[in-house]
Amino acid sequence: MNSRRVNVEDYRRLARKTLPRVIFDYLDGGAEDEKGLAHNRNAFDQWRFTPHRLTDVSQRDISTSLFGTRWSAPFAIAPTGFNSALWPDGDIKLASAAASAGIPFILSTASNASIEEVARCAEGEKWFQLYVVQQQLAEKLVMRALKAGYTTLIVTVDVGVNGNRERDRHNQFSLPLKSTPSLILSGCLHPSWTLRFLQNGMPQLANFVSTENGSLQAQAAVMSRQMDAGFNPNSLKRLRELWPYRLLVKGIIRPEDAEVCISCGADGVILSNHGGRQLDGSLAPIETLAEVVARIDRPVLADSGFRRGSDIVKAICLGADMVLLGRATLYGLAARGQQGVDEVIALLKAEVDCTLAQIGCPAVDELSAAYLRRVS
Ligand SMILES: Cc1cc2nc3c(=O)[nH]c(=O)nc-3n(C[C@H](O)[C@H](O)[C@H](O)COP(=O)(O)O)c2cc1C
Repeated sequence: MNSRRVNVEDYRRLARKTLPRVIFDYLDGGAEDEKGLAHNRNAFDQWRFTPHRLTDVSQRDISTSLFGTRWSAPFAIAPTGFNSALWPDGDIKLASAAASAGIPFILSTASNASIEEVARCAEGEKWFQLYVVQQQLAEKLVMRALKAGYTTLIVTVDVGVNGNRERDRHNQFSLPLKSTPSLILSGCLHPSWTLRFLQNGMPQLANFVSTENGSLQAQAAVMSRQMDAGFNPNSLKRLRELWPYRLLVKGIIRPEDAEVCISCGADGVILSNHGGRQLDGSLAPIETLAEVVARIDRPVLADSGFRRGSDIVKAICLGADMVLLGRATLYGLAARGQQGVDEVIALLKAEVDCTLAQIGCPAVDELSAAYLRRVS
Protein backbone atom coordinates (compact mmCIF):
# COMPACT_ATOMS: atom_id res chain seq x y z
CA MET A 1 0.00 0.00 0.00
CA ASN A 2 1.13 3.55 -0.65
CA SER A 3 2.16 5.44 2.49
CA ARG A 4 1.50 8.92 1.05
CA ARG A 5 -2.07 8.22 -0.06
CA VAL A 6 -4.01 6.69 2.80
CA ASN A 7 -7.64 6.90 1.64
CA VAL A 8 -9.83 7.19 -1.46
CA GLU A 9 -10.04 10.98 -1.08
CA ASP A 10 -6.23 11.16 -1.47
CA TYR A 11 -6.57 9.36 -4.84
CA ARG A 12 -9.40 11.72 -5.80
CA ARG A 13 -7.10 14.68 -5.11
CA LEU A 14 -4.31 13.17 -7.18
CA ALA A 15 -6.77 12.40 -10.01
CA ARG A 16 -7.87 16.05 -9.96
CA LYS A 17 -4.24 17.16 -10.26
CA THR A 18 -3.50 14.67 -13.04
CA LEU A 19 -6.53 15.08 -15.33
CA PRO A 20 -7.58 18.07 -17.43
CA ARG A 21 -10.67 19.62 -15.91
CA VAL A 22 -13.07 18.38 -18.61
CA ILE A 23 -12.05 14.78 -17.89
CA PHE A 24 -11.95 15.12 -14.10
CA ASP A 25 -15.43 16.65 -14.11
CA TYR A 26 -16.76 13.83 -16.31
CA LEU A 27 -15.45 11.36 -13.71
CA ASP A 28 -16.32 13.25 -10.55
CA GLY A 29 -19.50 15.14 -11.39
CA GLY A 30 -23.17 14.44 -10.81
CA ALA A 31 -26.51 15.65 -12.12
CA GLU A 32 -27.75 19.25 -11.77
CA ASP A 33 -27.06 20.72 -8.29
CA GLU A 34 -25.20 17.55 -7.23
CA LYS A 35 -27.30 17.27 -4.08
CA GLY A 36 -27.80 13.60 -4.87
CA LEU A 37 -24.05 13.15 -5.17
CA ALA A 38 -23.53 14.68 -1.71
CA HIS A 39 -26.49 12.80 -0.26
CA ASN A 40 -25.03 9.45 -1.33
CA ARG A 41 -22.11 10.16 1.02
CA ASN A 42 -24.12 11.73 3.86
CA ALA A 43 -26.72 8.94 3.89
CA PHE A 44 -24.23 6.55 5.53
CA ASP A 45 -24.22 8.79 8.63
CA GLN A 46 -27.83 7.79 9.39
CA TRP A 47 -26.41 4.54 10.70
CA ARG A 48 -23.88 4.28 13.53
CA PHE A 49 -22.04 1.18 14.66
CA THR A 50 -22.81 -0.50 17.97
CA PRO A 51 -19.44 -2.18 18.59
CA HIS A 52 -19.52 -5.54 20.31
CA ARG A 53 -16.78 -5.86 22.98
CA LEU A 54 -15.06 -8.85 24.58
CA THR A 55 -15.18 -10.79 21.33
CA ASP A 56 -12.18 -12.52 19.78
CA VAL A 57 -11.24 -10.67 16.61
CA SER A 58 -7.62 -11.80 16.49
CA GLN A 59 -8.38 -13.70 13.23
CA ARG A 60 -10.57 -11.95 10.66
CA ASP A 61 -12.02 -12.95 7.29
CA ILE A 62 -13.23 -10.34 4.79
CA SER A 63 -14.01 -12.84 2.00
CA THR A 64 -17.58 -13.54 0.90
CA SER A 65 -19.55 -15.91 -1.32
CA LEU A 66 -21.75 -14.81 -4.18
CA PHE A 67 -23.20 -17.02 -6.90
CA GLY A 68 -21.13 -20.00 -5.83
CA THR A 69 -17.75 -18.21 -5.93
CA ARG A 70 -15.68 -17.20 -2.93
CA TRP A 71 -14.47 -13.62 -3.52
CA SER A 72 -11.58 -12.10 -1.55
CA ALA A 73 -13.64 -9.06 -0.46
CA PRO A 74 -17.30 -7.98 -0.42
CA PHE A 75 -16.88 -5.49 -3.27
CA ALA A 76 -16.61 -5.45 -7.06
CA ILE A 77 -15.68 -2.91 -9.75
CA ALA A 78 -18.79 -1.24 -11.22
CA PRO A 79 -19.31 -0.78 -14.95
CA THR A 80 -18.10 2.61 -16.16
CA GLY A 81 -17.86 3.99 -19.67
CA PHE A 82 -14.98 5.75 -21.40
CA ASN A 83 -12.33 4.55 -18.94
CA SER A 84 -9.47 5.07 -21.41
CA ALA A 85 -9.99 8.83 -21.13
CA LEU A 86 -8.57 8.41 -17.62
CA TRP A 87 -5.69 6.08 -18.51
CA PRO A 88 -4.86 4.14 -21.70
CA ASP A 89 -6.43 0.66 -21.77
CA GLY A 90 -8.49 1.65 -18.73
CA ASP A 91 -10.94 -1.26 -19.03
CA ILE A 92 -8.15 -3.83 -19.26
CA LYS A 93 -6.27 -2.24 -16.35
CA LEU A 94 -9.41 -2.33 -14.17
CA ALA A 95 -10.26 -5.90 -15.20
CA SER A 96 -6.69 -7.06 -14.54
CA ALA A 97 -6.59 -5.35 -11.13
CA ALA A 98 -9.90 -7.00 -10.19
CA ALA A 99 -8.70 -10.42 -11.35
CA SER A 100 -5.47 -10.22 -9.39
CA ALA A 101 -7.34 -9.01 -6.29
CA GLY A 102 -9.97 -11.78 -6.54
CA ILE A 103 -13.01 -9.51 -6.99
CA PRO A 104 -15.53 -9.25 -9.87
CA PHE A 105 -15.19 -6.71 -12.69
CA ILE A 106 -18.11 -5.49 -14.80
CA LEU A 107 -17.44 -4.27 -18.35
CA SER A 108 -19.64 -1.37 -19.54
CA THR A 109 -21.52 -1.24 -22.84
CA ALA A 110 -19.67 2.07 -23.35
CA SER A 111 -16.21 0.55 -22.84
CA ASN A 112 -13.13 1.48 -24.86
CA ALA A 113 -11.93 -2.12 -25.09
CA SER A 114 -14.38 -4.48 -26.76
CA ILE A 115 -16.22 -7.35 -25.11
CA GLU A 116 -13.88 -9.78 -26.90
CA GLU A 117 -10.66 -7.87 -26.16
CA VAL A 118 -11.31 -7.75 -22.42
CA ALA A 119 -12.17 -11.46 -22.41
CA ARG A 120 -8.88 -12.16 -24.19
CA CYS A 121 -6.60 -9.82 -22.24
CA ALA A 122 -7.73 -10.10 -18.62
CA GLU A 123 -8.04 -13.14 -16.41
CA GLY A 124 -10.90 -13.68 -13.97
CA GLU A 125 -14.65 -14.01 -14.24
CA LYS A 126 -16.20 -11.41 -16.58
CA TRP A 127 -19.54 -9.70 -16.09
CA PHE A 128 -21.05 -7.56 -18.88
CA GLN A 129 -23.28 -4.51 -18.38
CA LEU A 130 -25.91 -3.79 -21.01
CA TYR A 131 -27.64 -0.45 -21.38
CA VAL A 132 -31.33 -0.55 -22.24
CA VAL A 133 -30.90 -0.37 -26.00
CA GLN A 134 -33.27 -1.35 -28.81
CA GLN A 135 -33.93 -5.07 -29.06
CA GLN A 136 -31.84 -5.78 -32.17
CA LEU A 137 -28.71 -4.15 -30.78
CA ALA A 138 -29.31 -5.74 -27.35
CA GLU A 139 -29.45 -9.17 -29.01
CA LYS A 140 -26.18 -8.57 -30.85
CA LEU A 141 -24.32 -7.42 -27.71
CA VAL A 142 -25.74 -10.22 -25.56
CA MET A 143 -24.72 -12.85 -28.13
CA ARG A 144 -21.19 -11.41 -28.27
CA ALA A 145 -20.90 -11.53 -24.46
CA LEU A 146 -22.19 -15.10 -24.46
CA LYS A 147 -19.71 -16.19 -27.14
CA ALA A 148 -16.81 -14.44 -25.35
CA GLY A 149 -17.49 -16.36 -22.11
CA TYR A 150 -19.07 -13.73 -19.84
CA THR A 151 -20.91 -15.32 -16.93
CA THR A 152 -23.22 -12.53 -15.76
CA LEU A 153 -25.35 -9.94 -17.52
CA ILE A 154 -26.10 -6.68 -15.72
CA VAL A 155 -28.96 -4.68 -17.25
CA THR A 156 -28.76 -0.99 -16.30
CA VAL A 157 -32.28 0.46 -16.21
CA ASP A 158 -31.69 4.03 -15.00
CA VAL A 159 -30.31 5.46 -18.27
CA GLY A 160 -33.23 5.39 -20.72
CA VAL A 161 -32.37 9.10 -21.04
CA ASN A 162 -29.04 10.73 -20.09
CA GLY A 163 -28.82 12.69 -16.84
CA ASN A 164 -28.43 16.47 -16.91
CA ARG A 165 -24.74 16.78 -15.97
CA GLU A 166 -24.06 20.48 -15.92
CA ARG A 167 -20.31 20.27 -15.32
CA ASP A 168 -20.08 18.37 -18.64
CA ARG A 169 -22.25 20.97 -20.37
CA HIS A 170 -20.19 23.89 -19.02
CA ASN A 171 -17.00 22.14 -20.16
CA GLN A 172 -18.48 21.25 -23.58
CA PHE A 173 -17.69 17.60 -22.88
CA SER A 174 -18.53 15.55 -25.96
CA LEU A 175 -17.47 12.40 -27.82
CA PRO A 176 -15.01 12.94 -29.39
CA LEU A 177 -13.53 15.59 -27.10
CA LYS A 178 -13.63 19.03 -28.74
CA SER A 179 -10.29 20.85 -29.02
CA THR A 180 -11.60 23.94 -27.23
CA PRO A 181 -9.09 26.59 -26.08
CA SER A 182 -9.73 25.52 -22.50
CA LEU A 183 -9.02 21.82 -23.29
CA ILE A 184 -5.79 22.82 -25.04
CA LEU A 185 -4.73 25.04 -22.13
CA SER A 186 -5.72 22.35 -19.64
CA GLY A 187 -3.80 19.76 -21.70
CA CYS A 188 -0.65 21.93 -21.42
CA LEU A 189 -1.10 22.13 -17.65
CA HIS A 190 -1.45 18.32 -17.35
CA PRO A 191 1.45 17.14 -19.54
CA SER A 192 1.67 13.52 -18.34
CA TRP A 193 -2.02 12.91 -19.16
CA THR A 194 -1.67 14.73 -22.49
CA LEU A 195 1.38 12.71 -23.50
CA ARG A 196 -0.40 9.42 -22.71
CA PHE A 197 -3.47 10.63 -24.58
CA LEU A 198 -1.53 11.72 -27.68
CA GLN A 199 0.44 8.45 -27.76
CA ASN A 200 -2.73 6.36 -27.60
CA GLY A 201 -5.18 8.48 -29.59
CA MET A 202 -8.85 9.18 -29.01
CA PRO A 203 -10.47 6.17 -27.28
CA GLN A 204 -13.23 4.50 -29.31
CA LEU A 205 -16.54 3.06 -28.14
CA ALA A 206 -15.12 -0.33 -29.02
CA ASN A 207 -18.37 -2.31 -28.90
CA PHE A 208 -19.81 -0.06 -31.61
CA VAL A 209 -16.88 0.03 -34.02
CA SER A 210 -17.78 -1.22 -37.50
CA THR A 211 -17.06 -0.28 -41.10
CA GLU A 212 -19.99 2.15 -41.05
CA ASN A 213 -19.08 3.48 -37.59
CA GLY A 214 -15.42 4.29 -38.11
CA SER A 215 -15.46 7.53 -36.12
CA LEU A 216 -16.10 7.97 -32.41
CA GLN A 217 -18.80 10.49 -33.29
CA ALA A 218 -20.66 7.86 -35.34
CA GLN A 219 -20.26 5.25 -32.57
CA ALA A 220 -21.61 7.66 -29.93
CA ALA A 221 -24.51 8.59 -32.20
CA VAL A 222 -25.46 4.91 -32.68
CA MET A 223 -25.38 4.31 -28.94
CA SER A 224 -27.51 7.32 -28.04
CA ARG A 225 -29.98 6.71 -30.94
CA GLN A 226 -30.49 3.17 -29.72
CA MET A 227 -31.28 3.99 -26.06
CA ASP A 228 -34.73 2.66 -25.23
CA ALA A 229 -36.65 4.94 -22.85
CA GLY A 230 -39.61 2.58 -23.31
CA PHE A 231 -37.85 -0.35 -21.61
CA ASN A 232 -40.42 -2.18 -19.45
CA PRO A 233 -41.02 -5.57 -17.77
CA ASN A 234 -41.72 -7.22 -21.14
CA SER A 235 -38.40 -5.95 -22.50
CA LEU A 236 -36.68 -7.42 -19.44
CA LYS A 237 -38.46 -10.76 -19.98
CA ARG A 238 -37.21 -10.80 -23.60
CA LEU A 239 -33.63 -10.28 -22.40
CA ARG A 240 -34.14 -13.02 -19.83
CA GLU A 241 -35.06 -15.42 -22.65
CA LEU A 242 -31.90 -14.51 -24.57
CA TRP A 243 -29.40 -14.81 -21.72
CA PRO A 244 -29.07 -18.29 -20.19
CA TYR A 245 -26.81 -17.39 -17.26
CA ARG A 246 -27.09 -14.98 -14.32
CA LEU A 247 -28.92 -11.74 -14.94
CA LEU A 248 -28.96 -8.79 -12.53
CA VAL A 249 -30.85 -5.51 -12.90
CA LYS A 250 -28.92 -2.36 -11.95
CA GLY A 251 -30.42 1.00 -11.06
CA ILE A 252 -33.21 -0.06 -8.69
CA ILE A 253 -34.25 2.08 -5.71
CA ARG A 254 -37.85 1.01 -4.91
CA PRO A 255 -38.53 -2.34 -3.20
CA GLU A 256 -41.55 -3.02 -5.44
CA ASP A 257 -39.39 -2.55 -8.57
CA ALA A 258 -36.98 -5.15 -7.19
CA GLU A 259 -39.94 -7.55 -6.89
CA VAL A 260 -40.93 -6.88 -10.52
CA CYS A 261 -37.35 -7.67 -11.66
CA ILE A 262 -37.40 -10.99 -9.82
CA SER A 263 -40.84 -11.85 -11.22
CA CYS A 264 -39.39 -11.21 -14.73
CA GLY A 265 -36.69 -13.78 -14.04
CA ALA A 266 -33.77 -11.67 -12.76
CA ASP A 267 -31.37 -13.49 -10.40
CA GLY A 268 -30.82 -10.41 -8.26
CA VAL A 269 -30.75 -6.62 -8.26
CA ILE A 270 -28.17 -3.88 -7.87
CA LEU A 271 -29.52 -0.92 -5.91
CA SER A 272 -28.05 2.20 -7.47
CA ASN A 273 -28.77 5.81 -8.36
CA HIS A 274 -25.84 5.76 -10.80
CA GLY A 275 -23.65 7.59 -8.31
CA GLY A 276 -25.92 10.66 -8.47
CA ARG A 277 -25.23 11.11 -12.21
CA GLN A 278 -28.79 10.64 -13.44
CA LEU A 279 -31.58 11.96 -11.16
CA ASP A 280 -30.53 14.65 -8.68
CA GLY A 281 -32.50 14.20 -5.47
CA SER A 282 -33.00 10.44 -5.45
CA LEU A 283 -32.92 8.45 -2.24
CA ALA A 284 -29.56 6.79 -1.72
CA PRO A 285 -29.55 3.00 -2.24
CA ILE A 286 -28.42 2.46 1.37
CA GLU A 287 -31.76 3.97 2.49
CA THR A 288 -33.95 1.33 0.81
CA LEU A 289 -31.51 -1.56 1.09
CA ALA A 290 -32.97 -3.30 4.17
CA GLU A 291 -36.50 -3.05 2.77
CA VAL A 292 -35.46 -4.56 -0.56
CA VAL A 293 -33.59 -7.37 1.21
CA ALA A 294 -36.74 -8.12 3.24
CA ARG A 295 -38.89 -8.26 0.09
CA ILE A 296 -36.86 -10.51 -2.24
CA ASP A 297 -35.06 -13.74 -1.58
CA ARG A 298 -32.33 -13.20 -4.18
CA PRO A 299 -28.94 -11.47 -3.94
CA VAL A 300 -29.05 -7.70 -3.47
CA LEU A 301 -25.98 -5.64 -4.40
CA ALA A 302 -25.62 -1.89 -3.91
CA ASP A 303 -23.53 1.03 -5.14
CA SER A 304 -23.42 4.85 -5.10
CA GLY A 305 -21.27 6.81 -2.71
CA PHE A 306 -19.06 4.04 -1.28
CA ARG A 307 -15.65 5.51 -0.43
CA ARG A 308 -14.77 3.82 2.90
CA GLY A 309 -14.49 0.28 4.18
CA SER A 310 -16.95 1.29 6.92
CA ASP A 311 -19.53 2.26 4.22
CA ILE A 312 -19.15 -1.22 2.73
CA VAL A 313 -19.50 -2.88 6.15
CA LYS A 314 -22.69 -0.87 6.85
CA ALA A 315 -24.24 -2.08 3.59
CA ILE A 316 -23.38 -5.71 4.36
CA CYS A 317 -24.88 -5.30 7.86
CA LEU A 318 -28.10 -4.07 6.20
CA GLY A 319 -28.23 -7.20 4.03
CA ALA A 320 -26.26 -6.39 0.85
CA ASP A 321 -24.45 -9.37 -0.66
CA MET A 322 -21.83 -7.17 -2.29
CA VAL A 323 -21.01 -3.53 -2.98
CA LEU A 324 -19.92 -2.03 -6.30
CA LEU A 325 -17.22 0.66 -6.52
CA GLY A 326 -17.57 3.28 -9.25
CA ARG A 327 -15.51 6.41 -8.73
CA ALA A 328 -13.30 4.98 -5.94
CA THR A 329 -11.36 2.67 -8.27
CA LEU A 330 -11.56 5.20 -11.14
CA TYR A 331 -9.74 7.78 -8.99
CA GLY A 332 -7.01 5.15 -8.54
CA LEU A 333 -6.90 4.49 -12.29
CA ALA A 334 -6.75 8.18 -13.17
CA ALA A 335 -4.05 8.87 -10.58
CA ARG A 336 -1.66 5.96 -11.22
CA GLY A 337 -3.00 3.52 -13.81
CA GLN A 338 -3.37 -0.11 -12.75
CA GLN A 339 -1.10 0.42 -9.78
CA GLY A 340 -3.51 3.04 -8.47
CA VAL A 341 -6.44 0.62 -8.85
CA ASP A 342 -4.46 -2.08 -7.01
CA GLU A 343 -3.72 0.41 -4.23
CA VAL A 344 -7.35 1.55 -3.84
CA ILE A 345 -8.54 -2.07 -3.69
CA ALA A 346 -5.85 -2.87 -1.09
CA LEU A 347 -6.69 0.14 1.07
CA LEU A 348 -10.43 -0.61 1.00
CA LYS A 349 -9.73 -4.23 1.92
CA ALA A 350 -7.64 -2.98 4.86
CA GLU A 351 -10.42 -0.57 5.91
CA VAL A 352 -13.04 -3.35 5.81
CA ASP A 353 -10.74 -5.54 7.90
CA CYS A 354 -10.05 -2.73 10.40
CA THR A 355 -13.79 -1.95 10.70
CA LEU A 356 -14.51 -5.63 11.47
CA ALA A 357 -11.94 -5.52 14.26
CA GLN A 358 -13.30 -2.22 15.61
CA ILE A 359 -16.91 -3.43 15.77
CA GLY A 360 -15.96 -6.81 17.23
CA CYS A 361 -17.02 -9.01 14.32
CA PRO A 362 -14.57 -11.66 13.07
CA ALA A 363 -15.96 -12.14 9.57
CA VAL A 364 -17.94 -10.41 6.83
CA ASP A 365 -20.16 -13.52 6.79
CA GLU A 366 -21.16 -12.79 10.39
CA LEU A 367 -22.18 -9.17 9.90
CA SER A 368 -25.80 -8.33 10.71
CA ALA A 369 -28.07 -5.39 11.54
CA ALA A 370 -27.21 -5.99 15.20
CA TYR A 371 -23.98 -4.04 14.60
CA LEU A 372 -25.88 -0.89 13.56
CA ARG A 373 -28.37 1.58 14.93
CA ARG A 374 -30.24 4.15 12.83
CA VAL A 375 -29.85 7.55 14.44
CA SER A 376 -32.06 9.72 12.26
C1 LIG B 1 -17.37 8.04 -15.05
C2 LIG B 1 -18.52 7.10 -14.81
C3 LIG B 1 -19.03 6.35 -15.87
C4 LIG B 1 -20.09 5.47 -15.65
N1 LIG B 1 -20.53 4.67 -16.70
C5 LIG B 1 -21.47 3.72 -16.47
C6 LIG B 1 -21.83 2.81 -17.49
O1 LIG B 1 -21.32 2.85 -18.61
N2 LIG B 1 -22.78 1.88 -17.18
C7 LIG B 1 -23.39 1.80 -15.95
O2 LIG B 1 -24.25 0.95 -15.72
N3 LIG B 1 -23.03 2.65 -14.97
C8 LIG B 1 -22.09 3.58 -15.19
N4 LIG B 1 -21.70 4.41 -14.17
C9 LIG B 1 -22.29 4.24 -12.83
C10 LIG B 1 -21.51 3.21 -12.01
O3 LIG B 1 -21.68 1.91 -12.52
C11 LIG B 1 -21.99 3.20 -10.56
O4 LIG B 1 -23.37 2.97 -10.51
C12 LIG B 1 -21.65 4.50 -9.82
O5 LIG B 1 -20.40 5.00 -10.22
C13 LIG B 1 -21.66 4.24 -8.33
O6 LIG B 1 -21.42 5.42 -7.62
P1 LIG B 1 -19.98 5.87 -7.07
O7 LIG B 1 -19.24 6.40 -8.26
O8 LIG B 1 -20.32 6.91 -6.08
O9 LIG B 1 -19.31 4.65 -6.50
C14 LIG B 1 -20.67 5.32 -14.36
C15 LIG B 1 -20.14 6.07 -13.31
C16 LIG B 1 -19.08 6.94 -13.52
C17 LIG B 1 -18.51 7.69 -12.34
